Amino acid sequence: MNQDDLKRAAALAALEYVVEGEIVGVGTGSTANHFIDGLAGIKDRIRGAVASSEASAERLAGHGIRLFDLNEVSAMPVYVDGADEIDSGLSMIKGGGGALTREKIVAAVATRFVCICDATKQVATLGRFPLPVEVIPMAREHVARRLTALGGTPTLREGFTTDNGNVILDVHGLSITDPVTLESEIDHIAGVVANGLFARRGADVLLLAASDGVQRSVRN
Ligand code: 5RP
Repeated sequence: MNQDDLKRAAALAALEYVVEGEIVGVGTGSTANHFIDGLAGIKDRIRGAVASSEASAERLAGHGIRLFDLNEVSAMPVYVDGADEIDSGLSMIKGGGGALTREKIVAAVATRFVCICDATKQVATLGRFPLPVEVIPMAREHVARRLTALGGTPTLREGFTTDNGNVILDVHGLSITDPVTLESEIDHIAGVVANGLFARRGADVLLLAASDGVQRSVRN
């Protein structure tokens, strides 16, 4: 099985968390794309979906899955998304695809966050993957200086604009032993829209695919 097969296996395992007659929150990325394709097979059993990016919205619509604006939805039982890294406490780094802000917003409305990953994403300590931070363009240099003061090395994601019209700084060289505190510290820098640490609201369930099957972990 290659990495993409494992992503698909994790994504299809998440279909059992979809609640009949309800709206599903849908993440972004290649693993989430497998989930969307699987969701197409049961689309008559759900009300529709809220997408965390324009790309996922387009893929959902292509399958004929009804899209809801998040402002029309006060609650949803589940949000399903991938991650760039996940630790044993189910804290994550997300945003490799640049959709972190909308992902965090949609996840905040969901009762349960189901994270779907291949086994390469599991780490002992977050930070090997550069931490994405979405920034208002005029604040780019100010935020970069503050991130450097926190011990990281930020680089601008060249040629990339988020769905919200902002830029991404990818912060290298962090060893994140206290993700909850760091998530809050970065959020408090003026000009930061959101950062890719999902620790205050981590995953509730992890479906981790390896060659010997999909392993399930539940947040304590
Ligand atoms: C996008 C994300 C993705 O979930 C993350 O980058 C993982 O992507 P993939 O499933 O393609 O490995 O956070 O913003």
